[in-house]
Amino acid sequence: MEQVTPTSTAVAQDMVPASAPPRGRVSKFLIPEVIFGIGTLAEVGGAVRRVGGRRPMLVSDPGVLAAGWVERATPYLDDVCVQWRLWHELTPNPKDFEVAAAFESYLDNGCDALLAIGGGSCIDLAKAVAILSGNGGRILDYEGIDRATRPIPPMVMVPTTGGSGSDVSQFCVVTDTKRRFRATIGGRALVPDISLTDPELLTTMPGELTAHTGLDAFSHAIESCVSEACDFLSKGHAIAAIQAIVEYLPVAVEDPFDLTAREGMARASLQAGLAFTNALLGATHAIAHQIGGALDLPHGLLNAILMPHVMRFNAETHADRYVDVAGALGVSTDGIDPDDAAERAIERVEDLSRGLGIPSGLHEIGVDPADFDTFAVNALRDAYIATNPRPVTEDDVRRICVAAY
Ligand SMILES: [Fe+2]
Repeated sequence: MEQVTPTSTAVAQDMVPASAPPRGRVSKFLIPEVIFGIGTLAEVGGAVRRVGGRRPMLVSDPGVLAAGWVERATPYLDDVCVQWRLWHELTPNPKDFEVAAAFESYLDNGCDALLAIGGGSCIDLAKAVAILSGNGGRILDYEGIDRATRPIPPMVMVPTTGGSGSDVSQFCVVTDTKRRFRATIGGRALVPDISLTDPELLTTMPGELTAHTGLDAFSHAIESCVSEACDFLSKGHAIAAIQAIVEYLPVAVEDPFDLTAREGMARASLQAGLAFTNALLGATHAIAHQIGGALDLPHGLLNAILMPHVMRFNAETHADRYVDVAGALGVSTDGIDPDDAAERAIERVEDLSRGLGIPSGLHEIGVDPADFDTFAVNALRDAYIATNPRPVTEDDVRRICVAAY
């Protein structure tokens, strides 16, 4: 290899034309191995074996257990001599103490991998246990980005809801029960090894959960599409997810066993997840995390209520970002003024939520305006606030909360 000396560097610089363009924007895209399709639950044993798991902790929740999906999956593990240990002691929006208890069980049982069969809460708890297994300490020590630096055990995630995207993302969210907010933990180590989606598993979700998780995916797609970090690698997935959610979510809520709609929503959730884990999110999630942590309310419901108001706030300065979103929502955007496109996109978002029975404001779900100041302070510390297209101040958060009330 040619040695680069100060002289040769100087010569090389002389050879660069003065008119050379500045270095372009850098794009990167980080995803797990993805297995997707009806009937792919049968692949779960092979998936765990392939990443080296022999004694995985199988994280699920009472609802998924009652629906029979764990019972359906475990023979595929037994067939390949995978000795799984079940853990199902968790609640929606997993709490810091639930992570600590699960990790203790992981150690007691000599587990060597994580397998989650469940929604975002199960997947996030499994990721949190993986972090502690590799890094020790308490889970909240790792709040922020890239704080967990040591290798963690292999992870296989099987989502059963059409929303969280956590099965492909580099994030997990854990409720800090002392400070009463949802702490975001992120880093490339948290990208699961394998994401396995069998859309049939979505058919047992009740209508309200389908609406909430579907609208969570909707907020992932829209926020990532307008994010400061959105690039060509993420945008196509975000746009496809928006289109699919508009088409399939109302059908999936109306008829839980419509497998075409469930497959469409599973695909949308996956693509919204691929978009947001790389392009990140914005103020909707940053604020929803604070309200959700304080009041333990459904994450997707909060995003659905907040998102039109965040879009209106963003559109005051960045309406152009919403032109493609409007197109994906079915608005004819040829020659349209960006302000009009943004407003029509917001109206379509509001129509979808209203049609699914989402409350019109935070006042309907027990949020107290006296907490808006706390939400404002904490939202500015959330990892996702940095990629909101418009810079956000505490006053802005308060204004958005008042509008959404
Ligand atoms: Fe979300």
